Amino acid sequence: SDGPLVLGIETSCDETGVGIVRGHTLLADAVASSVEEHARFGGVVPEVASRAHLEAMVPTIERACETAGVRLADIDAVAVTHGPGLAGALLVGVASAKALAFGLGKPLYGVNHLAAHVAVDQLEHGALPEPCIAMLVSGGHSSLLRVTDVASNEGVVPMGSTIDDAAGEAFDKVARLLGLPFPGGPHIDRAAREGDTVAIDFPRGLTSRRDLERHRFDFSFSGLKTAVARWVEACERSGEPVPVNDVAASFQEAVCDVLVRKALDAAASEGIDDLLIGGGVAANSRLRGLAEERAAKLGIRVRVPRPGLCTDNGAMVAALGAEMVARGRMPSSLDLPADSSLPV
Ligand code: KG4
Ligand code: ZN
Repeated sequence: SDGPLVLGIETSCDETGVGIVRGHTLLADAVASSVEEHARFGGVVPEVASRAHLEAMVPTIERACETAGVRLADIDAVAVTHGPGLAGALLVGVASAKALAFGLGKPLYGVNHLAAHVAVDQLEHGALPEPCIAMLVSGGHSSLLRVTDVASNEGVVPMGSTIDDAAGEAFDKVARLLGLPFPGGPHIDRAAREGDTVAIDFPRGLTSRRDLERHRFDFSFSGLKTAVARWVEACERSGEPVPVNDVAASFQEAVCDVLVRKALDAAASEGIDDLLIGGGVAANSRLRGLAEERAAKLGIRVRVPRPGLCTDNGAMVAALGAEMVARGRMPSSLDLPADSSLPV
């Protein structure tokens, strides 16, 4: 296999990820997660995440090299997420990548976390179809992007995003209301399989004709979360047991319905036939199923990386870094800043 050998570092949230790729080939994807340390707080605690990255960084780099069967000296370039994300967490990755690049005398590539969630699909399905519409849904973001060149800032253009909670955040908050563990997405996914999707008619945010005028490609999930909270409270007040599986299924259906509708509308409006779905929520079984079912009717192709590549990892950063090298992009300088609110 050919292409540049790139090591990628990801520390924007609670996963310390170190990936190694050669071109489109995945060689190693080592991830250390601090998710268990955050579980009792019901959300990621930034200081805890930063310290965990610091402790995990060197062992995770070593593990990635071992798995890939390469030595650090063989690496052609170092890529790192420099935003968006938690400031302190990003700093650990950026400082580590700078030290590595400087020590090895190899170029450093600062990458955008959202673009990396798109680029990762190349490791599974080969060269990215460009142009494509990318829908990124995770604990921290929900965005619709128009991608003409994943390896440049101008080639990834936001069409819309959430105006309140991210999709994954809604899953996590609703899971908490239902007494399911954090992070709640996978637990809701599982509970929903035993539930009825039409048991409760939960609201579809920003889909009324009036909202569509201003927010055609934007999302809103906080109203839905509140509706679930009211529903659960009403059950408890009347002394009825909460039908967890039905609430999970009906909630999940409301989220997936809106996500898929808007993603396909974005594709149709741009005349684009390829839809890519990424981010942790792309692991959701109903989201995948519904997207494939509705897209097929419109002649739109759907690509979703396998769940392990959808959640935060270092391979996605390496994949985008390799693409920047392959497309001849300028490396970053060693004063590359960590930017917690880096735009796409
Ligand atoms: O991309 P990711 O690992 O981290 C962020 O950048 O946020 O996404 C984590 C999010 C969490 O909110 C988690 O509950 C959600 O992805 N998630 C899921 C599923 N698996 C993970 N949501 C719905 N269904 C799933 N199967
Ligand atoms: Zn992410």
